[in-house]
Amino acid sequence: MRHFIDFEDMSTAEWNSLYSLASDIMAHPRDYVDALRGRVMASLFFEPSTRTNFSFQTAMLKLGGGVFGFADANTSSVSKGECLKDTITMCSSYADVITMRTPVEGMVKAASLYSACPVINAGDGGHLHPTQTLTDLTTITERRGSLENMNVGLCGDLKNGRTVHSLIRALSRFEGVSFFLISPRELAVPEYITKFLGEKGIRFVETTNLEATIPQLDVLYMTRVQRERFSDPAEYERLKGVYVLNAQKMKLAKREMMVLHPLPRVDEIALDVDPDPRACYFHQAECGLYVRMALLLTLASKEKARPEQSLPETRPHRCKNPRCITRTEAYLPVLDEDGVCGYCDSKLV
Ligand code: CP
Repeated sequence: MRHFIDFEDMSTAEWNSLYSLASDIMAHPRDYVDALRGRVMASLFFEPSTRTNFSFQTAMLKLGGGVFGFADANTSSVSKGECLKDTITMCSSYADVITMRTPVEGMVKAASLYSACPVINAGDGGHLHPTQTLTDLTTITERRGSLENMNVGLCGDLKNGRTVHSLIRALSRFEGVSFFLISPRELAVPEYITKFLGEKGIRFVETTNLEATIPQLDVLYMTRVQRERFSDPAEYERLKGVYVLNAQKMKLAKREMMVLHPLPRVDEIALDVDPDPRACYFHQAECGLYVRMALLLTLASKEKARPEQSLPETRPHRCKNPRCITRTEAYLPVLDEDGVCGYCDSKLV
């Protein structure tokens, strides 16, 4: 593993090692205070973030390293029209690792092609959010001791929720996991996810009914309806608040059910759930710090290597996703495979 763009970049053995390292950091944080002294992280956040941005910065500081970057691209030369290739070539000559959050799908994958240091995907549009997946897996493993044999409910905006897409694909590696996909029809998971589950023979149910499903669940993963991904504000107003988990509904759940949420929440988990010992979402955010420390330790100590510079492509890109990086950075090489865009995973039509 050189870059971390997608959870698929990590083998199950690498995940197990990463979890062990995160657990050891949690138990013995003082042993790691100088582990990355002299190393530097570039934090390139083109889209708002609280947890991912601050936990990565805290992780690097707690390991003895340094951080530079921006949380507003208007403060960098991107606002003057600098292309991604040039920004990344420069930043990777200064940094030992880059973390990147962007609304543009496939942009982090594109950045990795031009980076001399490892690049970590801190969320790209509605596509993937693999370090949130590491956070989710760490929280479940810590509480249940295993990622096998459980009923996992995912509830809310399953169409635009990148954390959901990454988590389903990651959990599908483990034995005995069944999925309950709870959403309004307009916000159902994309077809490529149900196709993926179908091809792997994994049990899943699509439903609109949270109350009827709760009693069966070992994990309930709530998500917010993602206002920033809607082109029609009226459609957002109609769908927001469609599911609200509250103390009353928690009475229907198993005694050991875990409630997770990647956060931020809006109103999909009422405040009266917070004191319930099954509410794990703030602990989940804390787990994110330790697993990101483990990831930085694994990647930021690697030797830097100048990437091969490919010539600009002359073939046109065929991706029709308006949020795909190939729509704005015309020089990128074509990476399409099996009718799927190699950057944003959209089906080519
Ligand atoms: N869970 C998550 O990605 O939160 P932020 O958007 O605040 O980073």
